Amino acid sequence: MSARTAAAAARARLEAAGVPDAAFEAEALTRHASGLSRAAFFAGAPIAAAAAERLEALLARRLRREPTPYLTGVREFHGLELAVGRGALIPRPETELLVELGLAELRERPRATVLDVGAGCGAVAIAVAVAEPRARVLATDVSADALRLAARNAARHGAAVSLARGHLAAAVARADVVLANLPYVPARAIDALQPEVRRWEPRLALDGGEDGLDLVRALLDDCGARLRPRLAAFEVGLGQAGPVAAHAAALGAETDVAHDLAGWERAVTARWR
Ligand SMILES: C[S@@+](CC[C@H](N)C(=O)[O-])C[C@H]1O[C@@H](n2cnc3c(N)ncnc32)[C@H](O)[C@@H]1O
Repeated sequence: MSARTAAAAARARLEAAGVPDAAFEAEALTRHASGLSRAAFFAGAPIAAAAAERLEALLARRLRREPTPYLTGVREFHGLELAVGRGALIPRPETELLVELGLAELRERPRATVLDVGAGCGAVAIAVAVAEPRARVLATDVSADALRLAARNAARHGAAVSLARGHLAAAVARADVVLANLPYVPARAIDALQPEVRRWEPRLALDGGEDGLDLVRALLDDCGARLRPRLAAFEVGLGQAGPVAAHAAALGAETDVAHDLAGWERAVTARWR
């Protein structure tokens, strides 16, 4: 049987189970199981028996709505292939905005100290360190599993990132730039998220308390009282930019809102002078 035929059968099963983007997912899983390039896949290369078995095992997991990056073990972020796993959130494309905001600040001060709070698999910190190796990059997380992945990813990309386990920025004495994609989903909204997220991604990476902003406010408070970074940038969800900017302004920061490629208010920046 050709790998394309196997993928078509996989697609039909994924579609029947209501998995979004079934065609794309079926191709990704079939190519992962078979190790075929896109060119070989589309040229009609056969799928070996062992690969067909691997595909079946992957499909069984995907049909339980386990996200594809947890099955393949990798995710691309800011042009880098990162190892991902159940101990950390799968990095999202919209979070690249935090990297861009950080890098824009580093253009004037390339040797600044950048702190990524809630680093997960290290996506933001590593992307910044790779793009601007002169920066001093630190990253924190409360999750030991996440930090293990971040260490693996930093080593894989030769990124000099200092990792520390701890609550928010508690382990850090100073930072010029603070970048944070902290949990910001309101606790009661988690059960309404798609199954890939609510069943498989760590609750610790999602749950931001009653209105989603408990940790964002706590880090802003620390920025205002102690760190006073030149730039702090926080990823936010729908409807959160206003309250976050207001909280930062009340702490004496100059604030702004940055939009993602889809036009959504996606990050709040706060500056202390
Ligand atoms: C939304 S995930 C973002 C991960 C990564 N920055 C990314 O964008 O892919 C939030 C991260 O914050 C971490 N976290 C949760 N509570 C924390 C706390 N109190 N202090 C530091 N990190 C925390 C979680 O373990 C998780 O890795």
